[in-house]
Parts: sequence; structure tokens; C-alpha cells
Amino acid sequence: MRHEVTIDDTGERFECIEQESVLAGLARLGRRGIPIGCRGGGCGVCKVEIRSGDFEAKRMSRDHVSPEDEAAGRLLACRVFPRSPLVLSVIGRMQKAVVAGHPSKRGEAGDGR
Ligand code: FES
Repeated sequence: MRHEVTIDDTGERFECIEQESVLAGLARLGRRGIPIGCRGGGCGVCKVEIRSGDFEAKRMSRDHVSPEDEAAGRLLACRVFPRSPLVLSVIGRMQKAVVAGHPSKRGEAGDGR
């Protein structure tokens, strides 16, 4: 089954099938600099915040996702699989790539690390 994922920060949408991680869908946006590392929940570069929707979260490193993060929906996109339409917000390195790289937002996200 295919679900629509909306990036709250830019209003962009993409489709993601249930067998595919949210990171794989994000990568299809073709935005330069989208952080893709291990794709296995271990390196922590692909963090997003899921705002709404149902999903299955597979195992991911506690070094990068604390119980508080998990409770707040701050998860690693490579280990999140949609089960309904999702709305997410990009954070950390993902924010820099997705928001700063968006044509209408260029310059707004700053260069904060
Ligand atoms: S790509 Fe390494 S944790 Fe997602």
C-alpha cells in the first residue's frame, strides 16, 4: 500500500510504499545533501520528527534515539515505515538538506549546526 508523506517544513509531499522506509522516499526528492548513512538505524544522520500518522518503527540505536525522542516521534527515517499518511518535520542534518535546499526557503534555515 502507498501512503502520502508530507514534509511540514516545506509543504512537499511524496509517496512511500509500506515496504519502503521514509528515508527512501525522502531520497527520491533528489535534494542535494539528504543525509543517508547506514540505512539501518545505527548512524543517526536521518532523524525526523513524525507529527502525525501511523507507522511501524523498526529497531534503531539508543545512542541516537532516546526514550524521550521515541515518545515525541523523533525517529530515524531509515527505520520508519508508513502505515497511513504521515506528516513529519525535518530536524538536525535532515533539516539543513531539506529546508535549506528548497528553492523557496533557501537562506531561511541558516547554517546552524
Ligand atoms: S541512515 Fe543511518 S540511522 Fe538512518
